[in-house]
Amino acid sequence: MTDQESVVLPPHVDDPELLPPGVEAPAEGSLLTYWQDRVGQHVHDSYAGVRLMKFPEDLRMFEHLLWLSRAQVVVELGTHSGGSALWFRDRLRTMAAYGLVPQDIRVISVDLSQKNTHDVLAAADSRYAEHIALLEGDILDQDTSFEVAEHIPQGARCLVVEDSRHAYETTHAALRHYSRFVPADGFFVVEDGLIDSPELCVHIRPPGETGGVVSAVRDWLAGDQGQFFQDRPDLNRYGISCRNMWLRRKSVTTSE
Ligand SMILES: C[S@@+](CC[C@H](N)C(=O)[O-])C[C@H]1O[C@@H](n2cnc3c(N)ncnc32)[C@H](O)[C@@H]1O
Repeated sequence: MTDQESVVLPPHVDDPELLPPGVEAPAEGSLLTYWQDRVGQHVHDSYAGVRLMKFPEDLRMFEHLLWLSRAQVVVELGTHSGGSALWFRDRLRTMAAYGLVPQDIRVISVDLSQKNTHDVLAAADSRYAEHIALLEGDILDQDTSFEVAEHIPQGARCLVVEDSRHAYETTHAALRHYSRFVPADGFFVVEDGLIDSPELCVHIRPPGETGGVVSAVRDWLAGDQGQFFQDRPDLNRYGISCRNMWLRRKSVTTSE
């Protein structure tokens, strides 16, 4: 093979499929319109060529919290196409390269079906399965969480992300079944609290049966498991966001 034959041409930046649609942010414009447009945009974004549905601002906060909590494992509830699983894997791999966490990093991602996800991830990275486990299961079923537990290395610090149906029932079940994986000073992130603010969601599929995320978190925080967690709304630091709910497990305090 000659040098010329081995050159792989990069994708063309003008291909409309490769970048998310733009939004306007006129200085004299309305923040509500900008926020609505950003919500519409985020469902058309991608990472490493795979659909990823998160605001860049929220990804930055995830980076901070992965770093600060020294997460070695991310448990993701709601895989969709797998772009977020790839993104979390790459962040964890970078933390391992810094020597902050063991090399044995993992993303364990759960969805009702993973029929196409294996092929999509393999097309992006043929070695994805070394660090990403794609599990099929319903988060309403507690047995799914037992299967997840089998993939977590002994003693590994986990960060859990609930990004499934954004309904009361699934949010509450996710907190009940998966909060036990979060260590002291670690985080359980419930995504998309904005689904309960219809005025922000005018450019995405109407919530329909979904909604109830915020009240599910409030109810769970008031119960036996929730008392060990603290809601940290101050972590939506970048203003515009999906109104994620960043729940931190309180530090273990020892009596003198
Ligand atoms: C918003 S998408 C996930 C987006 C992805 N995490 C990302 O950032 O690109 C929600 C996913 O949750 C899945 N889902 C919905 N209800 C579920 C349930 N009860 N158990 C497991 N997964 C569920 C859906 O099939 C869908 O793929």
